[in-house]
Amino acid sequence: MQEEDINASGGLPTTRFISRQEVVTVNVRRPRGTNDILPEDARKWQLVEAKIRDICHRFGYQEIRTPIFEHTELFERGIGEATDIVEKEMYTFTDRGDRSITLRPEGTACVVRAFIENKLYAQSLPSKLYYVGPMFRYEKPQAGRYRQFSQFGVEAIGSMDPFLDVEMIILPIELYKACGLSDFQVHINSLGCPECRPKYREVLQQHLGEKFDQFCENCQSRISRNPLRVLDCKNPKCQALVAEIPLITNYLCTECSDHFQTVIKYLDLLEIDYELNPKLVRGFDYYTKTVFEITVSSLGAQNAIGGGGRYDGLVEEIGGKPMPAVGYAVGVDRLLLALEQQQIDIFPEQHADVYVAHFGGDTKTAAVDLVVKLRASGLWVETDYMDRSLKAQMKSADKFKSRWVVIVGEEELKTGTVKVRRMDTGTEADVALDQIVEYLSVKKEG
Ligand code: HAM
Repeated sequence: MQEEDINASGGLPTTRFISRQEVVTVNVRRPRGTNDILPEDARKWQLVEAKIRDICHRFGYQEIRTPIFEHTELFERGIGEATDIVEKEMYTFTDRGDRSITLRPEGTACVVRAFIENKLYAQSLPSKLYYVGPMFRYEKPQAGRYRQFSQFGVEAIGSMDPFLDVEMIILPIELYKACGLSDFQVHINSLGCPECRPKYREVLQQHLGEKFDQFCENCQSRISRNPLRVLDCKNPKCQALVAEIPLITNYLCTECSDHFQTVIKYLDLLEIDYELNPKLVRGFDYYTKTVFEITVSSLGAQNAIGGGGRYDGLVEEIGGKPMPAVGYAVGVDRLLLALEQQQIDIFPEQHADVYVAHFGGDTKTAAVDLVVKLRASGLWVETDYMDRSLKAQMKSADKFKSRWVVIVGEEELKTGTVKVRRMDTGTEADVALDQIVEYLSVKKEG
């Protein structure tokens, strides 16, 4: 007997176990908003990750790996209780020890927690750290927006230098360019600091309050709790209502204004194209001063391939000494999506070095020995595991785009040789079995 159930994740019927004897089939699908990265794509991820590591090395950022889950309080304090992420998007659960735990929705708060807990402030500052890994947000899934996604983030903690703000823009640009992407836009703004922002907040609140009834329900609640977030609403009606609002840039204190001017001066010096966007607010409460986002228009609604900013109050908020900091995170899934959409192919074709073909029996035994030795010498070696005919093995070698095929035949074994065929020219040579590793290794280097 089977009992049908509607799988909440995909609306697909699944079969439940009812008793040990009765049912064994279960049709389990991956949870909504998650992706399987299959080998062909995993290769692309590896290449992008290799570029990330190379760039971080050149910019002097060192890798940090923090847990995938943290105490919920970290994000409530760090990101801000009146943000969409904390209010609606966190994967939070109570563990068996009755603690409230959350799968990390972002990496900045985690890195700052680790920075404080491991006393990295006692080492030379700024601490320049990077991470790559999965983040979790309960968002409405669509192209480019997932519930599990990967971020590459960089954080520089302990310095107010505006050059670091600029570094957080040029570092990801270097990555985007290394991936072949050229069509992206940098948006930049300053959100002020606890000195000047409250004044702007007040002016904004008053201005938005005048048209309170015309805003969407979400924005109505934001007006009193977090009015800057109204500027980020995607509802066209709300966007029209904020078309002519007072702008934060006119309310910055001297320190914030000077800082922002220096950032702009460096960007101009380095000939980085950017757009000043005084309505750019970002979705976290920890930001102070400079904020930025990089977008790709071809991605449609989810067009941000990264974003970041300065967060000079976060270290203290999480329990450390007051210390300035700035960071940026790239959405790796979206970066790969943009490359795919724009048909940018930076991924080299894969070629096996050698395919070892055999005819079973003694030739198989000799092939096993050869395969292991060739792999130990550093070559990518494929062989037949399915008792295929020679013709089928040659097809298989073609599929792997193998440079050479080594044929281990009965006759050749008697004379202690094997046949080596170069696949691009079709030329063949008889090579002594005990010389084959050296022969192919030299050929590869040559
Ligand atoms: P964020 O803007 O929330 O910033 O995320 C950075 C990037 O992650 C986004 O621009 C986007 O490319 C990608 N991303 C975000 N949510 C999703 C999703 N649901 N699916 C796919 N990709 C997504 C932060 O997380 C900050 N911690 C950045 C930062 C670092 N600020 C300072 N330091």
